[in-house]
Amino acid sequence: MTPSGALSRLNRLESLSTERSLETGFSNILTRCHPAAHSLHDSAADETCELSHRLKSDPAPGTREFEQLITIMSFYREAELHGARLLLVMHHHLRDPDSQTKLTRHLADETRHAFLWTKRISEMGGSPIAVINGYQHRLGMRVGVLKDTIDLLALTHIAESRAIERYQSHAKQEGVDDKTLEVLKAVSADEHWHLAWIDAKLREIAKRRGDEGRAIRALEKLRAIERDVYATIVAEEAELMRPAN
Ligand SMILES: [Fe+2]
Ligand SMILES: [Fe+2]
Repeated sequence: MTPSGALSRLNRLESLSTERSLETGFSNILTRCHPAAHSLHDSAADETCELSHRLKSDPAPGTREFEQLITIMSFYREAELHGARLLLVMHHHLRDPDSQTKLTRHLADETRHAFLWTKRISEMGGSPIAVINGYQHRLGMRVGVLKDTIDLLALTHIAESRAIERYQSHAKQEGVDDKTLEVLKAVSADEHWHLAWIDAKLREIAKRRGDEGRAIRALEKLRAIERDVYATIVAEEAELMRPAN
């Protein structure tokens, strides 16, 4: 399948039911491939792990495995770029020197992450797929236009948490090639700092306003929306990663 073919397949899958639990999704596919999962004699795990094994080294361009990996990396790349755009917006909301300094460093990190994924895709002999309906786009469509600083920080918080969870799950996949693992580790290290400072700033602003619960309520509300959104991504990825008939 060509990159555009893979993308159009993903787009066609957009209407897949979101009822599928995250537990049966791609994150679980990744973690189930841990050696411990094999001891459970789980035939479904064996099947999905057999799939992951096929991705352990750089797959050859033109193969199904190649298109799968390029598609996933393109989704990562798009999420990083979209995250960077949100940070640019936040530069206008958080004007204090501390926030400005951290936001700019954060923005530099996210654009570098997008570059690292782009570079990895190129090294493999591929090209980034133009993702038009990625994770951050879907999240933005569901959440709508946020104007309050606390909501913007909470949205960033949720997205950063997901990025950490996602990259760590991918890194645990047995047989991830060394260069991809290198990128996963590099970006994960930054994401932890991103989450830490956003979390601290969110709580600091809510406290200053005299309503610390406002931060918690914003996080809970957005987390529920994000779970629904991520479920659609997971369902499509599970379909993408399904072994060919
Ligand atoms: Fe990132
Ligand atoms: Fe981040």
